[in-house]
Amino acid sequence: MSIDTFTINDNHRLNLPTIDMPPRILLGAGPSNSHPRVFAAMIAPTVGYLDSNFIQVMDEVSELLRYAWQTNNEYTVVVSGTGTSAMEAAFANVVEPGDRVLVGVAGYFGRRMVDIAGRYGGDVRCIEAVWGEAFTLDEIRQAMEVHRPQVLAVVHAETSTGVRQPLDGLAELCREHDCLLLVDTVTSLGGVPLYVDDWGIDVAYSGSQKCLSAPSGVGPLTFGPRALEKIDNRRTPIANFYMNAELMGKYWSGTPRGYHHTAPAHLYYAMREGLRLVAEEGLAERWARHQSVAEAFWAGLEEMGLTPHVALEYRLPSLTTVRVPAGVDAAAVARRLLNEYNVEISGGLGDLAGKVWRVGLMGYNARRENVAVLLRALAEVLGR
Ligand SMILES: Cc1ncc(COP(=O)(O)O)c(C=O)c1O
Repeated sequence: MSIDTFTINDNHRLNLPTIDMPPRILLGAGPSNSHPRVFAAMIAPTVGYLDSNFIQVMDEVSELLRYAWQTNNEYTVVVSGTGTSAMEAAFANVVEPGDRVLVGVAGYFGRRMVDIAGRYGGDVRCIEAVWGEAFTLDEIRQAMEVHRPQVLAVVHAETSTGVRQPLDGLAELCREHDCLLLVDTVTSLGGVPLYVDDWGIDVAYSGSQKCLSAPSGVGPLTFGPRALEKIDNRRTPIANFYMNAELMGKYWSGTPRGYHHTAPAHLYYAMREGLRLVAEEGLAERWARHQSVAEAFWAGLEEMGLTPHVALEYRLPSLTTVRVPAGVDAAAVARRLLNEYNVEISGGLGDLAGKVWRVGLMGYNARRENVAVLLRALAEVLGR
């Protein structure tokens, strides 16, 4: 059959101009704007996924991630996918069918953990908190005693509520119960104090597009020794090829390194630059910058008569939920900020839909000038 037998259908053949995106200031729940240096790093030449230059980039990303997470975990990598892929990798590897998994659900991403743990056969138990509150150590202790889980999963920085879940005491509790501590650090890594080793976290994952100021698409993941032991002693195979810790591990540290998937090289370059910026600034300075910029924002809200949803004690610097005043259409305000000021903020999710706005001051975007722009725009739109 010759190709002349068929006629080419041009119905879908768009003739488009070059892409043209508005210059948004992304002050929502994420993504945040990437640092200009990150974009500059992304245009380095493409090399093969086993090129020694690329292997070096992978090694550098691992090492800089260890710094950002404050861990010596050898198994510290990025999954080629968004934060959810790293979340899935975490559960796919440490949860076996029938394992009891206790999840702290205090927002949208806790719910996602429940969903994913269940898909890998976990016998999922939940402890629930009102959206906007954190769990106390006692509440978690009691739930641990009732459910006796093999994995305890909590979200350190719940992006749907703006709550920072304190993690102190959880490591000891988990060791008493011979249980792994698995923590979502998507909205905390690089912006909020976090010590993976000192806090006894066994599994942590994150995303690239929040406080690390890189585009979304790579998900940091780290397994500590207790997690690796559990993975090594699994009774059942890991029901996921792409995120299988052993197969990924051969690519990240095998001798020789072996093909696992074609890593998105330019996103790895972006991650390297985002992490290089963290190292240059220093964690203490970076955490302090996030905190002081958030405090400037909270002070401005107060002057305008607006109220953060979360008590100061548990309030995240990287993500603030702001209560929508009575009679104000939350979505209409966010739309005006976007259309008239090029400023993106997010609406509430789940239990907080329509009740709060979510404002992210993360990474490169955690700067006073952004606070000033947002406060001025909000005041104009709200007529305050
Ligand atoms: C706390 C938390 N966990 C997980 C995710 C999922 O990450 P992604 O949307 O990059 O897949 C997000 C994304 O906003 C998040 O905020």
